[in-house]
Amino acid sequence: MSVEHRVRPEVRAMVRPRHGGDVWGRADVRDYSSNVNPLGPPARLYEYMAGAANDMENYPDDSCAELKEAIARRYDVRADNIMMGAGSAELIRLFPEVFVHPGDRVVMPRPTFSEYGFACRLMGARLIDLPLPEDDAFRLDVDDLIGEMVPGTRAVYVCNPNNPTARMLSRGEVLELVEEASRRDIMFFLDETLLELSERDRDVSCVGEVEAHDNLFIIRSFTKSFAMPGMRIGYGFGSREVVRYMDAARLSWNLGTLEQRVAARLMNEEQDHVRRAVAMLVEEKERMRHQISLILDSEVRLPDSYFFFHPLNGMGLTSPQFREAMLRQNVLVRDCSSFGPPCGGYSRFCVKTRDKNEEFLSALRSVVEGIGGGR
Ligand SMILES: Cc1ncc(COP(=O)(O)O)c(C=O)c1O
Repeated sequence: MSVEHRVRPEVRAMVRPRHGGDVWGRADVRDYSSNVNPLGPPARLYEYMAGAANDMENYPDDSCAELKEAIARRYDVRADNIMMGAGSAELIRLFPEVFVHPGDRVVMPRPTFSEYGFACRLMGARLIDLPLPEDDAFRLDVDDLIGEMVPGTRAVYVCNPNNPTARMLSRGEVLELVEEASRRDIMFFLDETLLELSERDRDVSCVGEVEAHDNLFIIRSFTKSFAMPGMRIGYGFGSREVVRYMDAARLSWNLGTLEQRVAARLMNEEQDHVRRAVAMLVEEKERMRHQISLILDSEVRLPDSYFFFHPLNGMGLTSPQFREAMLRQNVLVRDCSSFGPPCGGYSRFCVKTRDKNEEFLSALRSVVEGIGGGR
């Protein structure tokens, strides 16, 4: 007999989310599909790891006390405003486990990062997509989102800047949404994992607002800022009450000893590494925009983040076709079709260091010449 009838209905229909970064076993391929710090991890990362690699015979500190203290100092919040996760992905999963009841209405702009919908569907939520307008370069209209905060809505999701569209809201716009949600008793999930590598981080971040807004939960991650997706270290901020409930429900020992020790050192000693990446990205992003405009012979929009979400209609290619064409040049870009229509006509690729950007541009030139388009 099949096991299907024993499985929860939410799980029976589940399709796993798709992501970029699938370069395993392809030594020659350069990855532009995942958005991590282009400087790579700090040079001393492996030294920190070696220094932390003892005491594995004991369980890790389940409260992550030292690491939380380091994060609290960096962000000027209290340690009990902080949650740790095995990647921010774990906190994306935990949030609806704590706050979303089966049948609840949960609103998220589309396209956005697929893990939010995945986690909410597992909890039996009713997902409401707010399509972002393609004719306005996918800008999120604050009034449109407020219009979706109707009775029965339990939570609203915003990714700032948004993956994959690279559009960013100001702090004022986000706070207007958070406060409107609060008036309507709606939880607000804010993903700031991509914000730390932006020159606007200090002006846009809402981390300082969590104690004053008890409907707000914000995630951040070591993955993007320190280019280390291979270690799973994410964190989140909420009011003490929000954190208390999330902490009550989380997986025990979710961060290993190695992760905790390495992350504390990175937080304390490697902020310059992040700042250097931010300064470089500002310059390289503008340079890439200009060069891509020349290659494609069309105006290219400057993204609010450090990756491009680029329409492929000028080249007459779909997102999977462009990915294949770039792969023949040993360059991996994100096939965006998994984000749903109209993203099958867009590609996402990351800004990197000068040399790597040159390699990307040269691959793009070859693809464009191959199809007889552009200059
Ligand atoms: C917008 C966004 N949020 C969160 C994550 C999860 O990252 P991690 O679990 O590595 O912290 C990703 C990963 O791609 C992402 O793009």
